Amino acid sequence: MKKISIALILVLISFSTALNAQSKIKAIKTGRLIDVVTGKILENQIILIDSNRITNIGSNITIPSGAEIIDLSKATVLPGLIDCHTHLTLSLGENYYDDLFRKTATDYAIEATVNAKKTLEAGFTMVRDAGADQLIDVSLRNAINNGTVPGPRMLVTTFPLGSTGGHTDLTGFNPNLDFKGNKDFTGVADGIDEIRKRVRNNVKWGADWIKFMASGGVLSEEETPGLPQYSFEEMKAICDEAHLWGKKAFAHAHGTEAIKMAIKAGVSSIDHGSLIDTEGIALMKQYGVYLVADIYNDDYILSEYAKKGYPEKILNKERMVGKLQRENFQKAVNAGVKIAFGTDAGVYPHGWNGKQFFYMVKYGLTPMQAIQAATINAATLLSWDTQTGSISTGKLADMIAVQDNPLDNIRALENVSFVMKEGKIYKK
Ligand code: ARG
Repeated sequence: MKKISIALILVLISFSTALNAQSKIKAIKTGRLIDVVTGKILENQIILIDSNRITNIGSNITIPSGAEIIDLSKATVLPGLIDCHTHLTLSLGENYYDDLFRKTATDYAIEATVNAKKTLEAGFTMVRDAGADQLIDVSLRNAINNGTVPGPRMLVTTFPLGSTGGHTDLTGFNPNLDFKGNKDFTGVADGIDEIRKRVRNNVKWGADWIKFMASGGVLSEEETPGLPQYSFEEMKAICDEAHLWGKKAFAHAHGTEAIKMAIKAGVSSIDHGSLIDTEGIALMKQYGVYLVADIYNDDYILSEYAKKGYPEKILNKERMVGKLQRENFQKAVNAGVKIAFGTDAGVYPHGWNGKQFFYMVKYGLTPMQAIQAATINAATLLSWDTQTGSISTGKLADMIAVQDNPLDNIRALENVSFVMKEGKIYKK
């Protein structure tokens, strides 16, 4: 009797896992398919997927028997989106002083798992995360890779490097307050030796990318978003040390001179780029550096951050850079600078990443170029273009669908109805 009931339970368990399980072979019927490599729309294509990879694409291919058929014939299918500047472990803008003084890294870590899911469900299958406290980003990346929590594939930064008193340091408070904790859990470093040690520490702890604060920032209490916060020699030491370890470097840089210094020092992308001038634009082109400009943020910060207790000096900095950032983005686009999509998610609510497309089109990109910025360009910047960034045979099956045609209405990308990452469906 006992034996029978155990057997019955086992059968029931395997039956229910079979219901939840997804077939190894999948065939997606697409209405429109955006080919970001050629910049064309293809009609009525079938995409075959085996486990995590795309094995065939065409209008006239036989679907293997037993394949799971996914009907997206009324939708537009495009590659999984990539955001090159997120902070999945941060939710800024809730309450300035509470966030600084009461929240712990553990609080942020728990929220981060929710943020990751929201980001994936918004259609972002990959992110470069631009800095986190206490290695939460490394733990989150690993948990996502293990399948413990759903989220986008993450490349992480750990502790962005920055000078004493700069954008990575905590300034504006009673000097007796000590937030340091573990002495290695910081990106604050001055001078070549300290800098090289911090880069090595970041790599040791699991950083995929090295980030530094080339200029001041907006959402910190130091005064000058425009001025450089490292010497050229320091910036160069960061990039050289990163390259030594096989990592690429990128710079948070709002300021005109800081942008030029960081480009010459060897970064792969300039993030924010707010006060870039003609000479900076020419250097971006000459060195093949990508611009990752978070041009949605301004609206959100100006409408929400005063309510959340942010000091007037911070809001004033936003008023100083926000509009110029958009205008200068347009100048860079017109000059043909390479653009990759990055939003600084965490400054605004996670999962809203897609809202930035509208601004990128408003400030100069065609809808196709905006989509390319978030797919093939982003994948290329991240050195992942052989694996993702386009729907191509042999690449990982990272793809999404939207109901409208985003080439007619870019805001269609704010409502993603289907998400697949590495062949697994997360939303449909
Ligand atoms: N993390 C950036 C900083 O604090 C956010 C800048 C937001 N403003 C903007 N206009 N993009 O500097």
